[in-house]
Amino acid sequence: MIQVFIVIAGHSWGGIRLLTPEERFLRSCEGKPVDRPPVWLMRQAGRYLPEYRDIRKGVSFLEMCADVERAVEVSLQPIDLVRSEAAILFSDIFIPILGMGVDLKFSPGPIITEPIRERSQIKKLKIADPKKTVPYVFEIIRRLRRSLLRRSIPLIGFAGSPFTLACYLVNGKGDPTGKFSLVKELVARDPDFLIALVDRLGDETILYLQAQVDAGAQVVQLFDTWARVLTESQYRRIVLPVIKKIVSSLKGRAPFILFGGEACHLIPPMLESGCDVFSAGSSMSMRALAKVSRGRVSLQGNLLPDELGLPRKRIFDRVREMADDAGEARGYIVNLGHGCKPETPVSGVCSFTDAARDLVET
Ligand code: CP3
Repeated sequence: MIQVFIVIAGHSWGGIRLLTPEERFLRSCEGKPVDRPPVWLMRQAGRYLPEYRDIRKGVSFLEMCADVERAVEVSLQPIDLVRSEAAILFSDIFIPILGMGVDLKFSPGPIITEPIRERSQIKKLKIADPKKTVPYVFEIIRRLRRSLLRRSIPLIGFAGSPFTLACYLVNGKGDPTGKFSLVKELVARDPDFLIALVDRLGDETILYLQAQVDAGAQVVQLFDTWARVLTESQYRRIVLPVIKKIVSSLKGRAPFILFGGEACHLIPPMLESGCDVFSAGSSMSMRALAKVSRGRVSLQGNLLPDELGLPRKRIFDRVREMADDAGEARGYIVNLGHGCKPETPVSGVCSFTDAARDLVET
């Protein structure tokens, strides 16, 4: 899959025209030939960076998400500090939920003041124009795009999947065990409740992602971290129709990356969603995924975040191994299987991005 590819546009270096990071990223999403895979990391702007912690001092996480200057600065930090090749909007999957009239805070994860357990609460969720309710998100995107344009770095927008959001809204908070037993029990007892909730969140997600693309996001990623608590038949009935609707609302406007978390058993329906790129959790086999993707989607992932603590040479070996494993896929983006952790070493992240740049076939 990886081959030296000479293009007309792009930087000229040593007589060979190399792709710009933007071209490389967009082409990889679409499965077009590239000189080498691009690289970025989920949660690349975050607490593992001392420079992030400095800016975060004295403000709450929600204040930080609404502070355009600060949010732009931390979104750009990974480009300069760890040489990532794509920027992701600094925000959170819960920001559009604020616009729906839900009261929540972060401590450190989301805490919902009134968990949603009754049908009347679903009806009260407002489908509002995010450009009016959370205008700062789009100002952050516009400013980021202006500053990234000069450097040909692509900008990724994102949203939470309606089901992952529903898990928090129903449970009232995260679940350290990752089981979300209350949600599972509700899905089994009253699937229509979840269908109604996911549907409502899906409508807002469409408006939210479309507004991000209008403001300048070039690619979008949908995070479905907790889909894994569902069985395949529950996922097909409750979630897949909404994901398909969200994907099709953006078709032709921006490539769509679907992050599936560690939901190995949901790979077949997730690949049917119409997404352009499937972002795999670390427990999945890239080689097996490349086979089942059969040229329909590109792949992204999936180093275990803990492996960023390995020596530089081992990180290089692992990145090469992932790229080889993804070889049969139509395109590949080097990334983690989940986000950077607060304890992730900055040096490991730098080794990771350097390893991707070392993948050029000679
Ligand atoms: O990837 C990026 O760098 C972009 C920004 C981003 C954040 N959260 C910033 C953040 C993205 C894409 C997310 C996604 C997100 N948020 C998900 C889906 C992906 C995943 O991680 O599973 C979920 C489930 C959330 C909800 C959320 N936000 C939780 C559970 C937490 C607490 C856990 C934690 O890591 O602290 C957050 C807080 C959060 N979101 C932080 C950041 C940088 C930490 C905030 C801080 O205290 O400074």
